[in-house]
Amino acid sequence: MDKVQIKDKSFRKHIFCDAIHEKVLKVADRINEDYKKKNPVFVVVLNGAFMFASDLLKKVNVACEIAFVKVASYEGTKSTGSVKSLIGLNHNINNREVVIIEDIVDTGETIVALLDQLSRQSPSQIKIATLLFKPKAYTKDAPIDYVAMEVGNEFLVGYGLDYDGFGRNLEDIYIVD
Ligand code: IMP
Ligand code: MG
Repeated sequence: MDKVQIKDKSFRKHIFCDAIHEKVLKVADRINEDYKKKNPVFVVVLNGAFMFASDLLKKVNVACEIAFVKVASYEGTKSTGSVKSLIGLNHNINNREVVIIEDIVDTGETIVALLDQLSRQSPSQIKIATLLFKPKAYTKDAPIDYVAMEVGNEFLVGYGLDYDGFGRNLEDIYIVD
């Protein structure tokens, strides 16, 4: 499937699943090195990060816990600039080393809102792991610690990323045509 149609938009295959898996493995290797003998809590940001988190965490071999939060900031293909918390964190992260797992960091609004929210529970450290990073769209200063792949500003779907709720199940990443 080199092209997919989702609602009014056509997308073409852009990053193949084999390439994605290779990059995800590299992030897992770095995390395994950095968290050796530590017990991090991974906080997975739903919905978009579910597929990345699943592939990544299967390759993480440190003793860890996994928790979930759900936020929404996008409508269609545009960031709304306000971040809604749909499901909060139901896990004690006080004094813990936290790694947020995101699908994509675009303007950075979501990740900064999450950092604010999680910091209030006084974790000892928070790092960020993202599948995709749009450096040209990023407007914040928070360092993005683990980036599987940098991409341009074009809208992408697949491997967890959606267009209006659709396309998350695609195993490759597609770019708007
Ligand atoms: P930010 O708050 O602008 O950094 O946007 C982050 C969120 O917007 C991500 O967690 C995604 O859910 C969504 N998003 C940003 N860019 C894309 C894209 O190209 N495709 C699908 N979703 C995106
Ligand atoms: Mg997301």
